[in-house]
This record gives sequence, structure tokens and C-alpha cells, in this order.
Amino acid sequence: MTIAVTSASGQLGAAVVQALQAMDIEEQVIGLARTPSRAAGLGIEVRPGDYSDPEQLTKSLEGVDAVLLVSGNEQPDMRIQQHRNVLNAAKTAGVEKVVYTSVQGAEEGNGFSPVVQSNRQTEADVRASGMEWVIGRNGIYIEPDLESVDAYKSAGEVANCAGDAKCGYTTRPELAFAYARLLTESTNDGRTLALNGEPISQAELSAFLNTAFGTQLTFRSMSVEDYRTDRVNELGDFLGTVIAGIYEGIRQGANDTPSDYAKAAGRPHQNWDEYFASVAH
Ligand SMILES: NC(=O)c1ccc[n+]([C@@H]2O[C@H](COP(=O)([O-])OP(=O)(O)OC[C@H]3O[C@@H](n4cnc5c(N)ncnc54)[C@H](OP(=O)(O)O)[C@@H]3O)[C@@H](O)[C@H]2O)c1
Repeated sequence: MTIAVTSASGQLGAAVVQALQAMDIEEQVIGLARTPSRAAGLGIEVRPGDYSDPEQLTKSLEGVDAVLLVSGNEQPDMRIQQHRNVLNAAKTAGVEKVVYTSVQGAEEGNGFSPVVQSNRQTEADVRASGMEWVIGRNGIYIEPDLESVDAYKSAGEVANCAGDAKCGYTTRPELAFAYARLLTESTNDGRTLALNGEPISQAELSAFLNTAFGTQLTFRSMSVEDYRTDRVNELGDFLGTVIAGIYEGIRQGANDTPSDYAKAAGRPHQNWDEYFASVAH
């Protein structure tokens, strides 16, 4: 059997390849990448895989039995067609199973919702594809908050519009472990699974960062409007609106939902005490 991981040049794709390699499985693992040179260090065959190139995708998926479709990062409308290109190519090439990395979040009412909607459309396309399928709905990555510690430190605070609501964050390695299992086992075929850890509030996140990095951060709750203005000024219209929308969704409770992680991974999600101890310095 051959398993293909798309976006193998990206952080999640590469982590899934590594999780599959760590499983010591009989299946052959190959990568697809828009920029194959960026996946050269993985020690696997990497084939060209631009989501915008149907012919190239079909050729590269020849001989593949199961494929992981990692969600793209273009504008929502473009993404839907790109994902369809991968699904159509997989069907044409005779791939039997597709695993899709979708996302959690409010489906309407904020600046992130168009992205969530585009993922929901791909979910529908996956279910209608005629292939075996599994859909994971990823929680929000926690790593960007670690990468922001210096900025938080300069500001002396974490400030956003999530309020007191909790968010079921996750990490790329935890997601990768779950996706490696979903690709190699059939127990969860036909299921849509929420993949996240124990939900935490922004005040709890700040406390975890303080423990790990010796900072003295506090959480300041901002209004949705003030936070959106702040993000748009910093990041521009498109990205600022999306980021503010993510936190507005958290505030609305869209990211505080039950997790199916243990069902997908066969073990519980890493707890946040352990995670922050592992990144402390
Ligand atoms: N859950 C979350 O918090 C969260 C946060 C951010 C993003 N996401 C989603 O999760 C996905 C994976 O995350 P990540 O951490 O791996 O992101 P990443 O490290 O930024 O990697 C993005 C990957 O997408 C690939 N890509 C972009 N356009 C492509 C195309 N037209 N054809 C083929 N590949 C294309 C890139 O290829 P190149 O190397 O050629 O650029 C790269 O491999 C993202 O794309 C996004 O949809 C989720």
C-alpha cells in the first residue's frame, strides 16, 4: 500500500510524514508538494503536487491507495476548487481513501467564517467523492502563541476579544499522530472528528505561558470592534479580519466543543501541563 501526504513541504504535512515514519508501518509513504525542494529533507519520494494543477496531481497520485489532503491556504473560493482538483485527481488515479484536514470555528457571523465555510464545502465534496473518507476538524494551533511570546512580553499582556470563553487548541505533532492513525486504520472511516485538546481560556493560556517562559503576562479582554481595528491596522484588511474573526468565534463558544481526539488517535491528547513543561526554557 502507498500513502501520499499532500503539502509535505508545510509544517503539518511534514509532521504527518514523520509520524507515519515513526509508526514503523509496511505501507510506503510518499509526499506531494507544490515546492518539492522544500520537502527534500523528509527522506521520502516527493512528487509535484500543486493544488491548482489537475493533470500534475493525477499523475503524481498514480499508484497511491490513501491520500491525506491538507487544507490549502488561498482565499476561500479558490481553496474549494483547489481541493476539488485533488479529490478529482485522486478518483481518476484510483485512490481508495481520502483523509481531509478541516477546521473548527463559527460557520457564520465573523471574519473567519468564510474560511470555515470553504472547509465545510470541501467536507461535503469529500463525503460525495465515492472514496472511503475521514475528516478531521483541527483545533487552533497553539504554536503561534509560543512564537508570539516576545511580542506579548513587550506588551506585558495577551490582549484579544476572546473574553472568558475557552478554546480547544491543539499542536501540529498531536494532529500528525492522529492523522497517521486515520490514514493507516479503517476504524474511523466515514467519521468527522474534532481534533483538539482540553479547552482553555485566554487567562489560562497566559498563565501557562508564564509558567513556561517566566513571563508575567496578564490577559486583557478587548471588544470585538477594538480588536478588529487593532488587527487590521497591524496585518491589513484580509488577514486582520480573519484573525479577529477567529477570536470572535472563540468568544462565541465555537471552539469549546467536545473532542474526538482519543477516538482518532487511540490515546488522549497531550495535556497542557505536560506540553508547556516540554517547551519551557
Ligand atoms: N488550525 C490552525 O490553527 C491553522 C492555522 C493556520 C493554518 N491552518 C491550515 O492548516 C494548513 C496546514 O498548516 P501548516 O502549519 O502546515 O501550514 P504551512 O506550514 O504554512 O504550510 C502550508 C502548506 O500549504 C502548501 N500550499 C499552499 N498552496 C498550495 C498549492 N496551491 N498546492 C499545493 N500546496 C500548497 C504550501 O506549499 P509551499 O511549500 O509550496 O508553499 C505548504 O506546504 C494550512 O494550509 C491552513 O489551511 C490551520
